[in-house]
Amino acid sequence: MTDNAIISPDHQIRVHDRTFRPYIRRDEIQELVHDIAKRINHDFAGQEVTALVILKGAMVFAADLIRQLSMPVIVEFTRASSYGNSMTSAGTTAIEGLLADVTDRNVIIIEDIVDTGTTIRDLIKHLGGLQPRSITIAALLSKPSVHKDTLTIDYVGREIAPDFVVGYGMDYACHGRQLDAIWVVTEEPTA
Ligand code: IMP
Ligand code: MG
Repeated sequence: MTDNAIISPDHQIRVHDRTFRPYIRRDEIQELVHDIAKRINHDFAGQEVTALVILKGAMVFAADLIRQLSMPVIVEFTRASSYGNSMTSAGTTAIEGLLADVTDRNVIIIEDIVDTGTTIRDLIKHLGGLQPRSITIAALLSKPSVHKDTLTIDYVGREIAPDFVVGYGMDYACHGRQLDAIWVVTEEPTA
């Protein structure tokens, strides 16, 4: 059902209680991921990097990205949540779980999507105190028009409008992470 080859642009799917339409095809996502990997491989050639994957949303992106990195890679996970079940950011970030020893490491934060930037901002603040050698950010998607502060995202796959998307690891109310393409919510809630 989610095979891109048979999805037409007017195809719609239901995730939880909302309707979504096709937004970024699987093959387009792969191009975005490939481009980010190429840039990281160039910038960190010959150095070890620590991919810090922000769960849960970034897991699918991270799985594809790390397999295209050509330098030694250590993978760590942390959990940051601000969304709950709604489509708007809660404004505060709960950082849970492993923040392994990142001292003197080149940490690349792997994020699915940057919305207000609160998650990234809070995580950088937290990491900064642990004295990593460097902190860079790789985000598949970013919504620059709703960033709260000026935010430099080192590697962005694509900048998008501030619409709510689902799939490729990203959820709506805990659903839709398994979709292989990215879908955007339709304007009208359908009953
Ligand atoms: P921020 O802290 O406002 O930047 O929100 C970032 C986090 O919210 C991301 O890690 C995602 O998990 C989630 N998020 C933001 N926008 C979307 C979206 O359009 N769909 C699904 N999750 C989103
Ligand atoms: Mg997230």
